Amino acid sequence: MQLKTSVAIAHSNIALCKYWGKLDTQRNLPAVPSLSLTLEALRTTTQVTFTPGLEQDELRLNGELAPPEATARVHELLERVRREASSTLYARVSSVNEFPTAAGLASSASGFAALALAARHAAGLDCALDRVSALARASSVSAARSLFGGFVTLEAGAEHAVPFTPGPAANELCMVVALTQRGSKAIGSTRGMLHTQETSPYYESWRATAPRLYAAQREQLAQGDLEALGASVEQSALMMHASMLAARPALIYFAPATLAAMQCVYELRRAGAFAYFTMDAGPHVKVLTLDAQRAAVAAALSAVPGVHQVIVSRPGPGARLVQS
Ligand code: PMV
Repeated sequence: MQLKTSVAIAHSNIALCKYWGKLDTQRNLPAVPSLSLTLEALRTTTQVTFTPGLEQDELRLNGELAPPEATARVHELLERVRREASSTLYARVSSVNEFPTAAGLASSASGFAALALAARHAAGLDCALDRVSALARASSVSAARSLFGGFVTLEAGAEHAVPFTPGPAANELCMVVALTQRGSKAIGSTRGMLHTQETSPYYESWRATAPRLYAAQREQLAQGDLEALGASVEQSALMMHASMLAARPALIYFAPATLAAMQCVYELRRAGAFAYFTMDAGPHVKVLTLDAQRAAVAAALSAVPGVHQVIVSRPGPGARLVQS
């Protein structure tokens, strides 16, 4: 193995059509197709060095030694890289989230995408984005999508994500993220989705219906039918959350300010704005809007009681290597 330090940057992504549920738990393959938008404002930079003499993989997150669970997930990805590169060297990994604030926004998508790219490169492996996306997907399905910029799709059962080219109207789209609670989430997405699959009577109808929403969103993006897209973005998020709400015990990710921000989005629409919400496995509300309206949407969301920060983002680029 060639010894070197590699540094990669990747941006986070928000699913417009949600992934929730695993087809194959061992291989971490998604049960439903998903479609996302990569966001410029949320990015992670990760440095990897395979180092002789280390007795285990080391992870620093934002400059601090990481907790064991985070290090274990990074170790798993590095084991895959070592197997492929026929290496036994452990690595020093340092990952920095350049998010506007460390305010409980999931960083696993950008984190695993940047780690997968930097680790394959440092190990001297092929860095074709399909291969890197498949490696990231084995750790976090949403991370597979962060290798690519703009709109990105991931089919059910697929090994890697694929970039999606929408019609020209989609160039006007951007996202406003409203942070509705401080601190980290209670139940991680893997535990949450397995619990939903095992106990929710609504999971099967979610799984069966999701592909139709996905096909509709692809068509709406291609045709530039943004109102119809917005409606199906909300439906995807609400159907996913309905499957969680019906789990036993129920999985409720909403905070009081989540509902208040959703209400604010309805009011914005009644007043003629283009604004549609989506939520992930957490309380924050992400609002799809148009460039020309982003300041007004951000101002309205900032005024919602319980919303403590608002982040505005344009679509972002795919993952790339940078000079160390
Ligand atoms: O990739 P994971 O395991 O962190 O799961 C992500 C799940 C959602 O964020 C809720 C939906 C999605 O498609 O990103």
